[in-house]
Amino acid sequence: MLETRVAIADYLRRTRGALADPQHIVISSGVTQAVALLGQTLRTTPLAMEDPGFWQHRKILQHNGVEPIPVPIDDEGIDVDALASSGAEAVLTTPAHQSPTGVVLSAPRRTALMEWARAGHLVIEDDYDAEYRYDRAPVGSLQGMAPDRVVYVGSASKTLAPGLRIGWMVLPPHLAKAVISSKWLADTGGSVMDQVAFAQFLISGEYDRHLRQMRRRYQNRRTALLDALARHLPDATVLGAAAGVHLTVRFPDTFPLDDLVTHAKKVRVRVEPVARCYAEPATAPQGLLLGYANLTESQIERGVRKLSGFTVKRRT
Ligand SMILES: Cc1ncc(COP(=O)(O)O)c(C=O)c1O
Repeated sequence: MLETRVAIADYLRRTRGALADPQHIVISSGVTQAVALLGQTLRTTPLAMEDPGFWQHRKILQHNGVEPIPVPIDDEGIDVDALASSGAEAVLTTPAHQSPTGVVLSAPRRTALMEWARAGHLVIEDDYDAEYRYDRAPVGSLQGMAPDRVVYVGSASKTLAPGLRIGWMVLPPHLAKAVISSKWLADTGGSVMDQVAFAQFLISGEYDRHLRQMRRRYQNRRTALLDALARHLPDATVLGAAAGVHLTVRFPDTFPLDDLVTHAKKVRVRVEPVARCYAEPATAPQGLLLGYANLTESQIERGVRKLSGFTVKRRT
């Protein structure tokens, strides 16, 4: 729907500094389908991915015939020197809030990545949760700095609901035709009714109002999680910026993480080991992903306290 693409272009320009021509926006079934369609379109292009990175994206690329080249992350984000020497011609990256470590790409790295892109490479910018930055305004999108070299990808999964399956791609002109064709061949287009409703939500200003509310709510939940971890799981070190709707925590090498994960299952607290985000899970540092978006502050406190039952037992 053109109306939806115009509303998304306006929203991304206002909030992310993106330069989006509605003609070059494709509405997808979430970022998931965007990654699949880009994988299909770029099948013969050597494509890099952050390591660690979102495990689901690695699987989706593989399913679409692309074996992503792993590029390491450090506390400034993706290692652009390693990317440049990897042989990759494109990269899938999460610069505003690295998934899963939560690191924000540093200013020197942003410059280096944009230089790499302008030298004829392609950056796929997964901006999956940039709406949620709690300590300052979020960094702007990379796409606004080099619209011809960056594919911008986002969705309503973190802002409204993952079940909606509404996402968007802002494409450089040279890729638009191929990706539009891939989307049409995949499903002849997403639900028009959902797109009309989403456009109305954006145009009416209700989406912005909703985000202002949710930012406060999630910030309180994040604070509750930090407090509970400090109280009940002091072995956990929190990584990354004050942003998003998940935390990544790291444990010392000697910490019996497998036992904690087994205990978590038993007491019905959902935690996700970070190992599967690594290209080589066996070499991953010990860590967990903890989501807090759909929990109240008291549920968060109760959940972490339940996990700590394990720590107490371990120490006695
Ligand atoms: C790194 C990353 N990108 C994107 C998404 C959103 O995917 P989708 O829009 O398909 O729900 C997620 C959701 O968990 C994610 O973790």
